[in-house]
Amino acid sequence: MTKFGHKDLLGMRQLSVQEINLILDTAESLKAISARDIKKVPTLRGKSIVNFFYEPSTRTRTSFDVAAKRLSADTFSLSASTSSMVKGETLVDTARNLQAMRPDVIVLRHPSSGAPHMLAREVSAGIINAGDGINEHPTQALLDLYTIREKMGRIKGLKVVIMGDISHSRVARSNIIGLTKMGAEVTLSGPPTMMPIGIETFGVNVVADPAEAIWGKDVVMVLRIQLERQTRVLFPSIREYAAFFGLTREILQGANEGAIVMHPGPLNRGVEITPEVADGPWSVILDQVANGVAVRMAVLYLLIGGAKGDNVDQGRRSD
Ligand code: CP
Repeated sequence: MTKFGHKDLLGMRQLSVQEINLILDTAESLKAISARDIKKVPTLRGKSIVNFFYEPSTRTRTSFDVAAKRLSADTFSLSASTSSMVKGETLVDTARNLQAMRPDVIVLRHPSSGAPHMLAREVSAGIINAGDGINEHPTQALLDLYTIREKMGRIKGLKVVIMGDISHSRVARSNIIGLTKMGAEVTLSGPPTMMPIGIETFGVNVVADPAEAIWGKDVVMVLRIQLERQTRVLFPSIREYAAFFGLTREILQGANEGAIVMHPGPLNRGVEITPEVADGPWSVILDQVANGVAVRMAVLYLLIGGAKGDNVDQGRRSD
């Protein structure tokens, strides 16, 4: 069994507080590698990682690729349009064929909620969920937790507001689970048509009005409107969404002094967030991306890396 006791990383739900802290602490040790001249250590030499993305991705896919290469693993990429899925092969058959080539980890992004869970039962390689439908995106939540801890010095006791299209957001779901587990106080804000019924049972507050929701918060996390997942019209127009629910400098004034603004990307500039806020001094959006590499290095290391007590950096560079 792996160092943190799991074959796969399927969601934040499966992780204990201790395991989340282990991932964040491991990421902290590994982050320095990316600041060096030679950004590579031999920790995962000889390991193979398949990036299997059925949906578009800029950050997650590149970040896993960079993370694996910085640890000297071999990486291979497959997308739906370039695989034999276009000829009718099923996900399970595709995965079984990949398994025959003996990868150590398959990183899967898929539009169907639960696809990584099904794969995890079918193959012996570790499965990492890189986003499944509207269910979970655990490495995004882990990099968000890492960034909050790095910028604010703690997670426990912080007041966090998550704003926008909550019902279609796997990022929101994973962050709600992760943040509440780590002791943050979470408020959700957005149009009532984008708020899942009964979400309060997750231990969060719901405040529709963004200005009221932001008031007194330490962290403001803005979500992308996921027009591609909406099967019916949930707000009258993009312009009205921006006017009533977009994050502007004006309403950000109500947040606590030193509050940070986060967004998982990709940004709809001028819709859920104004360019002025996205690029302002409170924005940690690009820090999230940078930290994503360290967090994914940590996840890969903990799933397929060395034995307990190893020095993750091994104190030396690879050739
Ligand atoms: N945050 C995120 O998942 O971005 P990508 O869709 O670009 O991977």
